[in-house]
Amino acid sequence: MAIISNCTHDAIKKAAVALKNGHLVAFPTETVYGLGGDATKADAVSKIYKVKNRPSKNPLIVHVSSVQQIHNWVVEIPEYAMKLALEFCPGPLTLILKGNEIAKEFLTGGQSSIGIRVPNNVCAQLLLTEFELLGGIGVAAPSANMYKSISPTSAKDVWTEIGSRLSHEDTILDGGSCELGIESTIVNCLGETPKILRPGWVTPEAIKQLLGSDSIGQNDDNLTLFPGSEFSHYLPKTPVVINEPIKPGDGLIALSNIKTPTGVERLSSPNSLEQFATCLYSSFRRADELNLKRIVVILNETNGIGIAILDRVTKASRK
Ligand code: TXA
Ligand code: MG
Repeated sequence: MAIISNCTHDAIKKAAVALKNGHLVAFPTETVYGLGGDATKADAVSKIYKVKNRPSKNPLIVHVSSVQQIHNWVVEIPEYAMKLALEFCPGPLTLILKGNEIAKEFLTGGQSSIGIRVPNNVCAQLLLTEFELLGGIGVAAPSANMYKSISPTSAKDVWTEIGSRLSHEDTILDGGSCELGIESTIVNCLGETPKILRPGWVTPEAIKQLLGSDSIGQNDDNLTLFPGSEFSHYLPKTPVVINEPIKPGDGLIALSNIKTPTGVERLSSPNSLEQFATCLYSSFRRADELNLKRIVVILNETNGIGIAILDRVTKASRK
């Protein structure tokens, strides 16, 4: 069983040493908690797959402390990808780039590309910096949940998901609740134009504003695997339905201007789409704890971050 530590500088330094020694460290990022391991060590990466029960063909994202460190992992960075990195990193963005010889098959699921992210959370930043000071070059970290389950947005969620599957040499760093609450935007930067593989906080509007209105390409690339290529994902145990009539016994997630009918458990009443995204996964978890009949999500606006919310809710609604 893992040790849970607060994100003191001392605990972070110890966690960086643990990573360097091939152990796993679950840590907060601004999006969701990640389950980290040294991305250059086959054993550490294999432990991540084992703990999560994730198929080894499903590639992992490498986390580094700064845009400069991305160069260690890739053959080249197209100009538009560099613009994206300089604008949105550190932040909730993952770039898919052509990997170099360091990006080994055990990490990429056999693909020639690699996903790289520079998280913008103080604890994550410190951990990566300490790890790099020890000679590390990247931390592989998928979301710290069991395969197909909901991404954790607190250390307690990590504990619930995988606590008993970690060893006593592994660590969970507790940095409180994640500021953003849903996973990073993933952009395929392998072609002439960027393509959004997983919507998130870095929205198509923001990308178009930076690169031009017709800058985003269609997802026609034949990537072996891309986020959401699996039919269902992000699954709570409670069935999820979208924009359906609300019945007694249901749990309700909707903007605060929508009233809660009698006999219905209000799971969250966000004032904005941003808040909606941030509390979505914790609301799913609460529904599971309360053993509700269904989770009804009312979502009518799908601009901006709404696209990412709809993506996650739709996948959660497919059993
Ligand atoms: O916000 C996030 O991105 C979080 C935090 C911890 O950084 N990480 C995360 O990782 O969500 P994960 O593994 O749960 O989701 C990453 C998705 C997976 O669906 C994986 O298949 C896809 O990204 N992916 C990773 N590398 C890829 C690649 N080279 N090509 C296509 N898809 C890739
Ligand atoms: Mg995940």
